[in-house]
Formats: sequence, structure tokens, C-alpha cells
Amino acid sequence: MSTVHDESAHSSCNHHQGNGHSAHSSCSHGHHHGKEESCSHHERPLNQVKNIIAVASGKGGVGKSTFAVNLAISLAETGAKVGLIDADLYGPSIPTMFGLLNTKPEMAGKNLVPLEKFGVKLMSIGFLIDIDTAVIWRGPMASSAIKQFISDVDWQELDYLIFDLPPGTGDIQLTIAQTIPLTGAVIVTTPQDVAIADVSKALGMFRKVNVPILGLVENMSHYELPDGTKDFIFGSHGGEKFAKIQGISFLGSIPIDRAVREGGDSGTPCILTHPDSATSKAIKQAATELARQVSITNARQTEELS
Ligand SMILES: Nc1ncnc2c1ncn2[C@@H]1O[C@H](COP(=O)(O)OP(=O)(O)OP(=O)(O)O)[C@@H](O)[C@H]1O
Ligand SMILES: [Mg+2]
Repeated sequence: MSTVHDESAHSSCNHHQGNGHSAHSSCSHGHHHGKEESCSHHERPLNQVKNIIAVASGKGGVGKSTFAVNLAISLAETGAKVGLIDADLYGPSIPTMFGLLNTKPEMAGKNLVPLEKFGVKLMSIGFLIDIDTAVIWRGPMASSAIKQFISDVDWQELDYLIFDLPPGTGDIQLTIAQTIPLTGAVIVTTPQDVAIADVSKALGMFRKVNVPILGLVENMSHYELPDGTKDFIFGSHGGEKFAKIQGISFLGSIPIDRAVREGGDSGTPCILTHPDSATSKAIKQAATELARQVSITNARQTEELS
């Protein structure tokens, strides 16, 4: 995969601007209905991918990657075909979280074959180059690398392709929001005010480019003490209240749990190491609710088109 790339390939076609999700309408897993795009002069990337979901937050370190990883595995466990793109070029987490730090993807012709683990197809800059090299990349180069994750990777048929976004609302986030036909975005936040303030910025960005907000997840909602009482370390229900005010679906609260952190560091996510814990159940519930919101969004989209 070269790092400099012709960016014109998909940029001038309006259905790639913002939520060009017409191609993904009325999707549910298991059966691809093969809608064709009418744009004849461009080959549409990802035409075998039914739903593309960005996991975002304004703030760093709130658990986007952790949620994206556990969400992907959770959806795969339901029988869906799932891919996960690590869009954090400057600090990729997916290789560590999947225990694939020294694994390189193979080529199939001109395309990269995504790695696959725990039932999820994966692509990360961390699989391709020395991380120290990525750090010096400037905006346009980073944006074109992201586009190559779409155009030059052999994803094949997927029910869900999840983007784990970097923190903030910079070039990479905007490129993805504007040029990838996202079904919608999931916002991850902690309950505290400073995180919520940054979430507002991310919401504003997605709304500006007409990307639907699928819902909000409150991570690190509380810590359960040995006597069973809950310590609301980062404040209580901040995410839930914010979602209500904004009219966004609330996908659930995920507690602070040592197993989550350990799972991320060890390369086997908590949903696999502790499948029956309260935390894993909360994550699975959020994944189910998200899948429901995807269906609702697609149905609404189909309605608007008809
Ligand atoms: N519910 C949780 N309980 C305990 N630890 C958690 C939880 N969620 C995330 N963490 C830990 O918090 C740290 C940050 O999480 P993560 O890397 O997923 O955040 P992020 O939002 O993706 O960060 P960045 O903005 O840098 O991409 C990690 O060490 C992770 O293991
Ligand atoms: Mg991250």
C-alpha cells in the first residue's frame, strides 16, 4: 500500500459527501440485497458493506477504541460479518487490543487482505508501518491513508464496518464524515462535564455533514465497590442526561472495570475473557441497541427516498 494516493477517485460524487448512505438502506444482516449506485464514472468502494459506523468522541481517552473493539466482537458473536478500521493513525490501538502487534496483512493482487481475529476483520496503520513513521504525517497524507483503508483493502461482504476514530474533530474525522458513506456515528463519552463539552463539538461536526447520530454510550459510568454500592467517579448520569437533552438515543452505561483495561492491554477483550460480567452484558446490550438504531436509521432513510 503506497501512502500517497489519487484522492480524486471518490471525492466528486455527491453520494460520498456526508451521509451518502443510500446504498446501505434497509439492511439487516445475513442477506445482501445488492443495490447498485447510479454513479457510472466511479466504482463505488465498499459496495458489499451494508452499514458503516463511526465510533467517535470529542475527547481523548474516554474508551472509543475499547468500545469499538468490544462492539465489533459482540456484533460478530451474533452472526454478523464485521470489519473494524483503526482510523487513529497517530496512536493506533487495535493491534494491541487484538494481540496482533507483530502481524502483517498479506496482499491479494493489488489489495491488502484484512487480518482476522475473534471473528472480526481488521485493518490498522499499526499493521503496516512503524508507528513512529506515522506520527510525522500531515493532514492530507493522513486523509489519503484512510481512504486507502477503503479502496485498497479487500473487505468483501460485511454487515458492519466500524471505524474507530481518533479523538477530536480534526482532518481525519472530517474526511471520514464527508467522504465515507456512513450509516451513522456512535458517540462515546464519560459522564464528566469536560468530556460532554467536547462531545458537543463532535456532534456539531457530524450534524453539519448530515451524518445521523445512532446513539451515545456512557463509558466509565461508575465503579462498583466491594459492598455493591456504586461510586460515580466521573459524575452521575452525565452522558444519559446529555443524550436526552440532545434528542439522541442512549445506548447504555458501561462501568469502570479492571477487566476492561486488562482485556485491552492483554489482547483478548473483556467481552471474551469475562462474557458474563455486568460490564460485558452492558456492552452487549449497547451493541444490540446500536444494531436496532441502525435498522431504524436505514428504514427512515428508505422512507425518505421513496
Ligand atoms: N469501562 C472501562 N473500565 C476500565 N478501563 C477502561 C474502560 N474503558 C476504557 N478503559 C481504559 O481506558 C484507557 C483509554 O481507553 P481507550 O484507549 O479505549 O480510549 P480512546 O477514547 O480510544 O482513547 P484515544 O482518544 O486515545 O483514542 C485504556 O487503557 C482502556 O483500557
Ligand atoms: Mg482510541
